[in-house]
Amino acid sequence: MSLDRRTFLRHASLGAVGLTAGAQLPAAEGAPETALPAFDARAPEAFWAAVRAQFPLTSKLTYFNTGGLGPASTPALAKAAELTRQLQEKSEHGHGLIAGARAIAAGFLGADPAEIAFVRNATEGNATVAAGLKLGAGDEVIYETHAHPGGSVPWVQQARLRGIVVKTFEPATTSPEENVARVAKLLTPRTRVVQVSHVTAPTGIVLPVDALAQLCRARGVWFHIDGAQSAGMIPFSLRAIGCDSFATSGHKWIGGPHETGVLYVRRDRMDEVEPVLAGAYSGDVDAATGEFKLTENAMRYEYGTRNAAAMHGLAEAMRFQERIGRDRIAARGRELAERVRSGLAVLKGVEILTPAAPALCAAMITFRTATVPHDKLFSRLMSTRAIRCRPVTEEKLNALRVSTHIFNSPAECDALIAGVAEIVRS
Ligand SMILES: Cc1ncc(COP(=O)(O)O)c(C=O)c1O
Repeated sequence: MSLDRRTFLRHASLGAVGLTAGAQLPAAEGAPETALPAFDARAPEAFWAAVRAQFPLTSKLTYFNTGGLGPASTPALAKAAELTRQLQEKSEHGHGLIAGARAIAAGFLGADPAEIAFVRNATEGNATVAAGLKLGAGDEVIYETHAHPGGSVPWVQQARLRGIVVKTFEPATTSPEENVARVAKLLTPRTRVVQVSHVTAPTGIVLPVDALAQLCRARGVWFHIDGAQSAGMIPFSLRAIGCDSFATSGHKWIGGPHETGVLYVRRDRMDEVEPVLAGAYSGDVDAATGEFKLTENAMRYEYGTRNAAAMHGLAEAMRFQERIGRDRIAARGRELAERVRSGLAVLKGVEILTPAAPALCAAMITFRTATVPHDKLFSRLMSTRAIRCRPVTEEKLNALRVSTHIFNSPAECDALIAGVAEIVRS
């Protein structure tokens, strides 16, 4: 590219009318913010019913698969739709508007805006780190056996391409300390990266990211968190955790539009993760010397034209969660999950795979029955009661996963328990 990035951006904004860099985002027409009622702990269901009313998710479905794909709220969808229309009216990319969404995402995750890149999903964020870290043959990477393919395959691919060595540990269900011990046991002088799922996908185990961040820091090992299942389910601050990088999807627990996600890379270590895809937004080419200098911030990972409206839809989903209350969301998810756990646990032949210790679980419960194969149970719940869980075939667990989120209700949990009880009985 012969133009440097500033020249490029100048040219881009010259072609744009109205919605240029730094412009205020016009209010989304026809989508006034619906106020939520005050939360009353003595009658919480009125509040949660108002939250539920903010989701276009059909009432014909009892949806327990947020861990797979979370429905978006009306505020998030309206923001994305309205901004899409506004940008399309003038055929603008809206790149200058992304900064506003980036600031909201940074606040939501406890990071600086300069450390936040928008990506298409958690997989893209994980893969950016796996492909971008300067690793070579024999360098070792550790992650858990329960890693989702979106977390493990980026490393498996690096094993193919660069000869890195992958080592795995079975996530413990006994204590956070045992999980730290299992990682520590695998560390060698060749260990370069530890990655864990913040909340594991198959059985919803919460892994001790704070302690693992400390361990990795002490050993000079890069610590990456796959947060696809945690962001929007539980509150946390990346700054406080002290990880080196983190990736999440926007279209799960946060409730953003499809194909949204966030990658965080710690500012003082950003130069250790090369942008594998590089383009106009990744840096400047010095016109005189031809030298390429990377953008100072995480925008270096965004490379080309992006969907600014989707990013604002994601930011609006985050704002919606802040309006509800992040602690309140985590408590609600846990409370509903515990209702599911205790209702299922008393059924004959039901085995709960998700550990019960509060430090090890949050808003997902995975279970199986001794008598009904998981795929039959899944399809019977779906076909007879329109209850959507998620089959878990990973690690041959042959189980069902139930994700409980802000649009679910105690009555839905009870319907699931009654449905399982009936199927098991018959
Ligand atoms: C832990 C974890 N990582 C990564 C992914 C992949 O998410 P996406 O397809 O949005 O990239 C998932 C999806 O369920 C997941 O649970």
